[in-house]
Amino acid sequence: MDERKAGIKGLVDSGIVAEELNMCKSTLQILPVVDLSGIEVEDGRKKIVDEIREASEKWGFFQVINHGVPSSVLEEMIDGTRKFHEQDVEVKKEYYSSDPTARRVRYVSNLHLYKTKGKTNLKDSLHISWQDSGHNEPEEIPPVCRKPSVEYINHVIKLQHILLGLLSEALGLNPNHLKAIGCDKGPRLVCNYYPACPQPEITFGKHRDPVFLTIVLQDQNGGLQVMCDNQWADVTPIEHGLVVNIGDLLQILSNDKFVSPIHRVVAKKIGPRISVACFFTGCSTPPKMHGPIKELITEENPPLYKEFQVDDYLTKFFSKPPDKTGLDLFRQTDLHVA
Ligand code: OGA
Ligand code: NI
Repeated sequence: MDERKAGIKGLVDSGIVAEELNMCKSTLQILPVVDLSGIEVEDGRKKIVDEIREASEKWGFFQVINHGVPSSVLEEMIDGTRKFHEQDVEVKKEYYSSDPTARRVRYVSNLHLYKTKGKTNLKDSLHISWQDSGHNEPEEIPPVCRKPSVEYINHVIKLQHILLGLLSEALGLNPNHLKAIGCDKGPRLVCNYYPACPQPEITFGKHRDPVFLTIVLQDQNGGLQVMCDNQWADVTPIEHGLVVNIGDLLQILSNDKFVSPIHRVVAKKIGPRISVACFFTGCSTPPKMHGPIKELITEENPPLYKEFQVDDYLTKFFSKPPDKTGLDLFRQTDLHVA
């Protein structure tokens, strides 16, 4: 907690707080922070499961501390991301591809959009897809961030297994449930670089994640915000903490008990801002059918969504009309419309 104060103090000292608050119009709602030390002890675990249930129902977002990923691994991951993006463009170009299926490690830059349109998605990203089978080829990852990326992804997968256990229990299910149905599949690391922005504006449009679960590592610059009760709340960085967010697919599986919240990143004058999101996409071979979990369905709580496969969901998600959300795509009411 002292670290949080230091973070806010740092912003005050740099004289940008008033402007910042004005610009992003966030409220003072405080996003829950869950301390995972104590998950092995019965009373401790019950308290943690209760906190995670409450956070997942109200916010769909929470931060975790004492999560088991060593601080050095977090620091090196942020450092490696910065080093990759600050390399000469000629080196980065080798990894560039606009086709998501073309390669497992892919550099995506939106700088050209910035130059031509002046805004939208002002960030560069390095995407690293990881195979569940363990057949990964770390040599595909750029040398400058290879070691930290492999170490980080292995740790974050372990943390994800712990979280899926806690989330299963929070839904009243057996701790293995969410893992057994494939919510742990298809991890993808996205290493982001948001340059400092002389005229702050929204850099990364509001969205929900079209995945099961996302774990985000952010540096101390801040800027991430989540919508709760129709208001934006800051996801204030906690040193060595991680942000967890429920994606659309887990909202569907929970039959709307958990929420996949809208979130965004606000640009800052200070920067660059580094973040590393690990998405658990659910992509698996062979593909699996998913839908609201049977154990959660009763006569009073009928399934709100149709069954789907992740690939199908993603295809529809990326070609949906802008007024539809990813959740609308498989809502049962569509049945009556059709
Ligand atoms: C995302 C996202 C947050 C961040 O990539 O989906 O919400 O802090 N990122 O970069
Ligand atoms: Ni997101």
